[in-house]
Amino acid sequence: MCGIIGRAGDGDALASLLTGLKNLEYRGYDSAGVAVRNRDGIDVCKREGETDVLDAAVAERNLTGDSGIGHTRWSTHGAPSDANAHPHTDEDGRVAVVHNGIIRNYESLRRELREDGHRFTSETDSEVVPHLVARELDAGATPEAAFRTAVDRLEGSYALAMVVEDDDAIYATRHGSPLVLGVGDDGNYLASDVPAFLEFTDRVIYLEEDDLAVLDEEGYRLTTRGGETVERAVETVDWTAGDAQKGVYTHFMRKEIDEQPASLRQTLEGRSEGPEAVLEGFPPGSLSEVSDVVFVACGTSYHAAMYGSTLLRRRGIPATAMRANEFAHDPMPVSDRTLVIAVTQSGETADTLASLRVANGSPARTLAVTNVVGSSAAREANDAMFIRAGPEIGVAATKTFSSQVASLALLADRLYADGAGIGADAGVRMPATSMAEGSSTTDGGTEAGTIRSLPEDVETVVNDGGASRLAKQYADADSYFFIGRGVGYPVALEGALKFKEITYEHAEGFAAGELKHGPLALVTPSTVIVAVFTGRDDERTLHNVREAQTRGAPIIGVGPESATEIREAVDEYLPFPDTDPELAGILANVHLQLLAYHAAEIRDRAIDKPRNLAKSVTVE
Ligand code: M6R
Repeated sequence: MCGIIGRAGDGDALASLLTGLKNLEYRGYDSAGVAVRNRDGIDVCKREGETDVLDAAVAERNLTGDSGIGHTRWSTHGAPSDANAHPHTDEDGRVAVVHNGIIRNYESLRRELREDGHRFTSETDSEVVPHLVARELDAGATPEAAFRTAVDRLEGSYALAMVVEDDDAIYATRHGSPLVLGVGDDGNYLASDVPAFLEFTDRVIYLEEDDLAVLDEEGYRLTTRGGETVERAVETVDWTAGDAQKGVYTHFMRKEIDEQPASLRQTLEGRSEGPEAVLEGFPPGSLSEVSDVVFVACGTSYHAAMYGSTLLRRRGIPATAMRANEFAHDPMPVSDRTLVIAVTQSGETADTLASLRVANGSPARTLAVTNVVGSSAAREANDAMFIRAGPEIGVAATKTFSSQVASLALLADRLYADGAGIGADAGVRMPATSMAEGSSTTDGGTEAGTIRSLPEDVETVVNDGGASRLAKQYADADSYFFIGRGVGYPVALEGALKFKEITYEHAEGFAAGELKHGPLALVTPSTVIVAVFTGRDDERTLHNVREAQTRGAPIIGVGPESATEIREAVDEYLPFPDTDPELAGILANVHLQLLAYHAAEIRDRAIDKPRNLAKSVTVE
């Protein structure tokens, strides 16, 4: 959701800015631009389209710069166009600003500035900032004072970076939108996200809310909004530049699907060796007071949260997953024994942060399950658990879903071992169900040790070519329905999300038993049904499959290797190694990722940058 980059230091800044923008393109790709300071003053170059278009424009103009700022945009206010691209300037081009976030009071600020004679050239909310700064400069303020005064007028969320003519510093601040500082040997960087400058440095400072950074040739200086100097720790990230590059792959998505055995190993390392899950920051007994769990999350992370809530309920711990954009405005009742878990890959999703803040204002304890150390969610929640999946660049979340679910499975085991839940003493019991023989209603955890074979099992699925063949075979279908039950249900939702997100085809996910309550009316021989089987309660899912089969729909089953009855009942079968049914959903999901990927490839879609989407959604 918009990417910001800035560089000050020795040598030419432009090449680093353009590299940074390319690395940040997953945050937005509607337009891109740079503002560099050189002997002519401030030079701005910006273009609608992806960063390649900007690269060509920069080359044509022979642009150079000692320091500067850049931006890649995901449009909110104003359509994608050259005029709406960042950086924005005041009328005289003395001040150039890049912005990520939303300035809520921009209309009233625009009115006020217009009355003062300022003229605007874009439809964006961001353009008010350079005008506010210019007005302060005209009144005699220094650039830093002008920036502070301008920022004080803003309502909403923002990460901002600014350069001013005849001044060699970059000024930046954040409020509700991420901004990190990269500390390099011959220059310092500012960016919305660490992968932007990983080629240049792995030493970072995660700016705190309302910190103000000043970068120049000499180094950097940090203050609070009020002007008080602050020290922030420099951390070394364990991601490498190669982690955030495509290498031999055509798409990040495919690279990240293939990385799952390795990323899962990282997720599990040191946490699953013994009979009990070992979670840093959560020693045995630390979760014993938890009576119930509420998950908040969006998109793929919401599906992982649903999966996690199912695992907890199966351990007798009351748990529910809510879409963060709903919880923030219509929360679930909580107590001081409720654990609210925000699941978010980026740790910066505005809807999820809004929910987290609501929970932080309640008696509940909060926990962020995230991939990004130093993210807002990690810092704002009472506790954080890192999924350690490594950087994910493709807009479609893949390896992070697997690592989220594996992390939640470990957390579920820890909560169970700690005796979390309301308990039988309070009259809370698992209702008896009429599940198929062999299934139990309350599980004490995944079969000991099974989770350790997850990376290897995922590897088997990644190497299976079945999804590629089926993507071709069913390329002409009208719709794709994904169904599943238990942990197979969130996987069905996730399979459909992935499929529609990158193929632009109609795809929906349903609880298998729900098909007959309405969606079946849509099923024709041109509707492909993808049915997820986990090894638990599959008999019922098979009934639901037959209901669709009778209407002529072709069925692709995804299930355990040894499930011969299912294999015979469906038209096509994507098998995965037999495992604990609780973990089977992770394996099934890898097949669904590959199905979506190959279906999108056939259609020649922009797989890593699907239309209208961005990786990190930092507006509500
Ligand atoms: O960073 P988050 O996990 O909070 O992001 C939430 C969703 O925006 C995200 O999972 C989105 O649905 C995926 N990119 C879809 O593949």
